[in-house]
Amino acid sequence: MNKRKPLVIGHRGAAGEAPENTLASFALAAAQGAEGIELDIHISKDGEIVVCHDHTLDRTTNGSGLICEHNWQDIRQLDAGAWFADNYRGERVPLLREVFKMLPPNFLINVEVKHAYEGRLEQELLAYLRASGRMEDVVISSFDHQCIRRLKLAEPEVKVGLLYAANLFDHAAYARQADIDVYSLHPYYQTIAEPDVTGAAAAGLATYPYTVNREEDFARLTMDGVTGIITDYPGRLRAFLEGNQ
Ligand code: G3P
Ligand code: MG
Repeated sequence: MNKRKPLVIGHRGAAGEAPENTLASFALAAAQGAEGIELDIHISKDGEIVVCHDHTLDRTTNGSGLICEHNWQDIRQLDAGAWFADNYRGERVPLLREVFKMLPPNFLINVEVKHAYEGRLEQELLAYLRASGRMEDVVISSFDHQCIRRLKLAEPEVKVGLLYAANLFDHAAYARQADIDVYSLHPYYQTIAEPDVTGAAAAGLATYPYTVNREEDFARLTMDGVTGIITDYPGRLRAFLEGNQ
């Protein structure tokens, strides 16, 4: 290995081994040596920033329906762990601020905005980040690149990343088209190759491919020189990197 080691970023915490997007999952990622986590956010009916992948509660809790149609008081009663394994019964859907509180300063938090909610989520998120004093720790990403552009224009201090699954002709050139200062690329891992990573780095862009779970892909992307790897198994990635000093 001749390049700088990639950062270990736990996808939805350590989603391969704990119920995704719960405090237990983020704690496990940190305990396994992750340097950052990725999480997904939505907004509740009463304007709280809720950490959950889906826009509904059905798959990962014992509740149902749209997050944006429930008040936080109701969402916080739900069980978000039992669906994954019985020993996680009692885990809750966290708020973004609860995750921040649990993680130490300088721990990278990649906040993925799942839906703009007609601009409501952007406003709440920026207000929270400004008040948190943790802006430096955060990279906001989204498949909605117009949302990313609005966030950056509204708050030049915030770091933003483009998340995508498309097999682009030229990754760095795509970021330039956004006409804002893009901090990072978040490509689907199978669409990015060494020249793309090198081109991104030359353009001053970090590269954080998702979601990488196999050792052969850890090896390839490490050789390619990516900035960080988003994985459901941060412990496995940490062990791989330690074994390849
Ligand atoms: O942010 C990377 C990755 O989480 C994007 O896909 O569906 O797992 O949120 P998804
Ligand atoms: Mg995500």
